[in-house]
Amino acid sequence: MKTPYYLIHQSILEEEMDRLHMALKRHWPNSVVGYSFKTNSLPWVLSFMKAHGCYAEVVSEDEYELAEYMGFRHIIYNGPVKGKESFLRACKAGHIVNLDAEREIEWLKEAADSEETINVGLRVNFDLESMCPGEASGGEEGGRFGFNYENGSLRRVVGELEKLPGIRFAGLHLHCSSKTRSLNIYRAIAETACRICDEYKLEPDYVDVGGGYFGGLPDKPQYDDYLNVMSEILRKSFDPKRTCLIVEPGTSLICPPIEYVTTVTDVKETNRNRFVITDGSRIHVDPLMRKKSYFYHVEPMRSGEGIVKTQIISGFTCMEDDRLFQLTDAPALQCGDRIVYEKVGAYTMCLSPLFISYYPDVYLEDKGRITCVRRRWGVKEYVQGTEE
Ligand SMILES: Cc1ncc(COP(=O)(O)O)c(C=O)c1O
Repeated sequence: MKTPYYLIHQSILEEEMDRLHMALKRHWPNSVVGYSFKTNSLPWVLSFMKAHGCYAEVVSEDEYELAEYMGFRHIIYNGPVKGKESFLRACKAGHIVNLDAEREIEWLKEAADSEETINVGLRVNFDLESMCPGEASGGEEGGRFGFNYENGSLRRVVGELEKLPGIRFAGLHLHCSSKTRSLNIYRAIAETACRICDEYKLEPDYVDVGGGYFGGLPDKPQYDDYLNVMSEILRKSFDPKRTCLIVEPGTSLICPPIEYVTTVTDVKETNRNRFVITDGSRIHVDPLMRKKSYFYHVEPMRSGEGIVKTQIISGFTCMEDDRLFQLTDAPALQCGDRIVYEKVGAYTMCLSPLFISYYPDVYLEDKGRITCVRRRWGVKEYVQGTEE
């Protein structure tokens, strides 16, 4: 197997999925898992999620069409940039559609007709930062998704929907991205869902609490903790038999089972440093160049090499900042040694640019058997659909 490549461990993915389903069964059996396509939409991953009963959670016309192509019978259509055609198709097909933009209300006005009921949900924009200081991704500027609760936009939209023939309010969507993935975030989400429904006297079919959970990290909150916190609060305003709880995990499911395997191709000494060059790159494990550290292990070809003070592990691209980490007082790495990055399945494969080298192979490991689930892209794939 030529490096670099991604390796999916099916048993780890299955364990994560089981843990999620067990926690849901325990705390809110009337529930749905919408797998977040954006987090990793490798077709094999999508087929796995479909086979495990997940709905497709999509946020663009392309993702919506991918969900249809992959044969998902249930789709949750979110996001501020839905296409009009796919939006109306989703509404008519009875999928879960959460409104996020004014223009979608205009589209509904055109489509509204008292003969046929269209159910829609509303993405809620609320002041998470004031409820969880320092934790919201939007920080002091606030989040930009959904209709704002505090300034009355949400109430106005609820009122507008009530006036449209055949349009029925079905649920609230409260996904929030956070810097911390803490239990506080989900406490705030659950409390906000209750406050809105109590105040507006709404009886939703579903409350969609979104994604953003930790997964595969024993010292962090588990699904059971998140669901315990949320269900205790939600039970005060919602009947678990009547209102379905929707979760939209991405990272927590698909980050843990995927590794990225690289090989040392050169070791270069300069007057200032010792650089270990590899055939992998930061663009494949940290395309946003934000990570401060990685989970990894080294598989040396030979043991017993001398200890060196510092080694800078670098990637194949020609960017100086394609440096992954520094080894201090560690055995000297040699050409042929492997460096394996762990837990890299989220926002990597689907965010990597086609920069200098194309997408690497993706392999699946299942009970020791390895198969290729996506061959690496070469020039043929790169030039497809173009004219010379
Ligand atoms: C609406 C929505 N749902 C779910 C997710 C998945 O989040 P995560 O991958 O952190 O679980 C996101 C990510 O941004 C999102 O925007």
